[in-house]
Amino acid sequence: MSPALDHPVRLSDLRRLKAEGRKFAMLTAYDYPTAAAAQAAGVPVLLVGDSLGCVLLGHENTRGVPLELILTLTEAVRRGAPNAFLIGDMPYQAMNGGEARAVSAAQRFRDEAGCDAVKFEAQRADAALVREMTRAGVPVVAHLGLRPQTIDSPDGYRAQARAPEEVEALADDARLLAAAGAVMLLLEAVPNEASRAVLSAVDVPVIGCGAGPACDGHVVVTHDMLGLSTIRPPRFVPVLADLGQRMIAAMREYVAAIESGRYPAPQHVYGMHKQPADASTKS
Ligand code: KIV
Repeated sequence: MSPALDHPVRLSDLRRLKAEGRKFAMLTAYDYPTAAAAQAAGVPVLLVGDSLGCVLLGHENTRGVPLELILTLTEAVRRGAPNAFLIGDMPYQAMNGGEARAVSAAQRFRDEAGCDAVKFEAQRADAALVREMTRAGVPVVAHLGLRPQTIDSPDGYRAQARAPEEVEALADDARLLAAAGAVMLLLEAVPNEASRAVLSAVDVPVIGCGAGPACDGHVVVTHDMLGLSTIRPPRFVPVLADLGQRMIAAMREYVAAIESGRYPAPQHVYGMHKQPADASTKS
């Protein structure tokens, strides 16, 4: 088992791992206890993903995540995992009001929520924005491949870069965004061949989310990995626990304990303070 994170993880640590050919883990976290568990488990990189729109809020897609909400949750994650390399996800709302608004939101992730970097769903036209954020002192992780915020694009919500010409285009985009200053790339739902092409095109660490074993690091949605999601997780997710079913079982037991009168039992009940022996004789 990985030891708990006992020192802050920096970008230089992730670069070193890549240089040494060692893979690193990344998970999503949206709250304090999950972040604390991740730190205890030695997860070096955490993402407060806009997937929280679906996972926590029950939305159909990730577009409705309010900036203020994700900032508040990111602060909580930072409190739970002070040593993780923390990445905040730029919500759709902050990415669609012009460059100045996006840069100011990115600075808030750094200054108010303690993020080490922000991630946003990027295409080649976003190289200028990567440059602006970098100039403003906010390291950027460029998210390529399947980009869930473009849910209504003709490309659709499906695996990307499965044809040779698409792989080339992806590698070109990756090269451009890394040259603009992106400190890491995240590839979602692409074949391993596409990841390999990107890895040959750039020097920065490449994190895969359903992007094959070649990537330097790997991320999945924690709720999917723990069996807590209400929908079936994507095929690339290793489902390592069944906490959703355990939660239902515990809640059933609680209901039954109350209905049967087994709860509250004597050990759950506060006693009265002892009265002084002569209390009744005074006055
Ligand atoms: O929002 C998110 O959780 C993500 C990961 C799935 C990569 O972007």
